[in-house]
Amino acid sequence: MTWTLLAGSSSALGIALSKSLLKRSPHVAMQGKEQVEKIVGKHCFYGDFSTHEGVELFVDKYLSHCPSTRCLVYNVGPYLHQSVLNTSVEEAQFLLQTNLLAPMYLVQRLMPSLQKSHGSIIFIGFVGVSSFYNDVFQTMYHIAKTALYQLMRSLAKQLKALDVSVNMVSPGYLRNSNSANYTEALDYVEYSDVVETVEFLLDHPKITGQNIEVARGVRL
Ligand SMILES: NC(=O)c1ccc[n+]([C@@H]2O[C@H](COP(=O)([O-])OP(=O)(O)OC[C@H]3O[C@@H](n4cnc5c(N)ncnc54)[C@H](OP(=O)(O)O)[C@@H]3O)[C@@H](O)[C@H]2O)c1
Repeated sequence: MTWTLLAGSSSALGIALSKSLLKRSPHVAMQGKEQVEKIVGKHCFYGDFSTHEGVELFVDKYLSHCPSTRCLVYNVGPYLHQSVLNTSVEEAQFLLQTNLLAPMYLVQRLMPSLQKSHGSIIFIGFVGVSSFYNDVFQTMYHIAKTALYQLMRSLAKQLKALDVSVNMVSPGYLRNSNSANYTEALDYVEYSDVVETVEFLLDHPKITGQNIEVARGVRL
C-alpha cells in the first residue's frame, strides 16, 4: 500500500487539500501541530517541525505506520509580517526550519519509496518567489520560500531520470486567511483554486520543475 502524506493538514487550505486528496484515495496520512483535532481523515500524526528533532520524531512515527509514500504535499508554511530589522535570529531560524529544512529532510527520508513508486512532490510556495519580488515586511518568509523554490528546481532536475515529479503551487492572497488584512478584495484567490492546481499537477506527472502561481496576477 502506498500513501500520500499531506504535511500541514489542519489549516483551512490544509483541510481543503485533505478533502480533495481523500477523494482520490483513502490512504492519505495527515500531519498537524496545534489544531490536530480539526484534521479530516483517519490517519493523523502529530508533528512539530519547529526543530529538526521534531521532524525526525514525526518521520520515524509516520514511516512505522506508512512505510511507502507515493506523494508528498507540503503545506506547512508559517508566516511573519515583520521587517528584518525587527526579526530575531530565532524567528528567522524558525521560518527557515519550517518552510525549507523540514521539507528538505522529509524528501530525503521518503525518497526510497517515492523513487520506487515514481511519485510526486508538491510544495506550497508563495506568489513572487520566481520573480524575486521584495516586500520589506515579508523578507525572511520570502527568503525561505524562494529557497524552497530553488530546492524544488534542484530536486526536479535530479529526480527526472527516476520519473519522480517535483513542483510548487504558489498562492497569492488566500481569502479568509491572515493576508485578508493586507490586500484588495479583487486580489483574493479561493482555497479551491489552489486545490484544483494541486490536483492538476497530480494528474499530470510529466510536468516537473514548475512553479504555478495561483494569484490573480498580483506581483507580476
Ligand atoms: N495564508 C495565506 O494567505 C498564504 C498566501 C500564500 C501562501 N501561503 C502558503 O500556503 C500554505 C498554507 O497557509 P497557512 O496560512 O494555512 O499556513 P500555516 O499557518 O503554516 O498552516 C498550515 C499548516 O501547517 C501547520 N504548522 C504550522 N506551524 C507548524 C510547525 N511549526 N510544525 C508543524 N506544523 C506546523 C499547521 O498546523 P496547526 O494549525 O495544527 O498548528 C497547519 O496545518 C503555507 O505554506 C503558506 O506559506 C499562505
